[in-house]
Amino acid sequence: MSSPARGRFITLEGIEGAGKSTVAAALARDLATAGIVVRSTREPGGTPLAEKIRRVVLERGDEHVSAETETLLMFAARAIHLDNLVRPALARGEWVLCDRFTDATRAYQGAGRGIDPQFIESLTSAVHRGLEPDLTLLLDLPVEVGLERARQRRLAAGEGAVDRFEAEARPFFERVRAGYLDIARREPRRCRVLDATRSPTEVCAAAVEALRGLES
Ligand code: TMP
Repeated sequence: MSSPARGRFITLEGIEGAGKSTVAAALARDLATAGIVVRSTREPGGTPLAEKIRRVVLERGDEHVSAETETLLMFAARAIHLDNLVRPALARGEWVLCDRFTDATRAYQGAGRGIDPQFIESLTSAVHRGLEPDLTLLLDLPVEVGLERARQRRLAAGEGAVDRFEAEARPFFERVRAGYLDIARREPRRCRVLDATRSPTEVCAAAVEALRGLES
């Protein structure tokens, strides 16, 4: 029996409050309706062990965690996620819809924290081993809009505490946003920038449209 065609690997990126979860849910519904088996997942996390690393890296504890260590933890979680979930799913012909991936490391640890891009790219080639997303949707919006949306969401959910990244101030997120836009400019074939200030319905429709053509 011949092995199934490799599935597609789609990643979603953006600053806090960009609406990634809403778009991910809409895309998963649309693909499932088209008869495609979809695995929705996220980073850091996605498998039990990688979710443990997520808790470690997002927690604001007493002990200092350097930006280099933060980067290594992101890649440790990523290596586990790729080995145990993403690669096997793609090999089975499933489509993987991933909420954040390596562009988040480039934007948050690279542009945001100032980690050397060469350090990030050497870890990227070791951990990806040639695997790249087929499509990356960057949900872009002004930082003040995203942060306010994220604040409202935390209030509605009754969540008082902020994590290691949510605790950052606006200039950090301005660097992250600029870092993301820079990646999209350098890789226009892989990355599609969507205006995330529009209504959720409009952004979801634009995301669904952006996936057209990936099946062939
Ligand atoms: P989430 O809130 O979208 O689930 O993501 C968790 C946080 O982790 C978010 O603030 C961005 C951050 N992050 C990085 O800093 N680097 C990474 O490589 C990834 C995947 C996430």
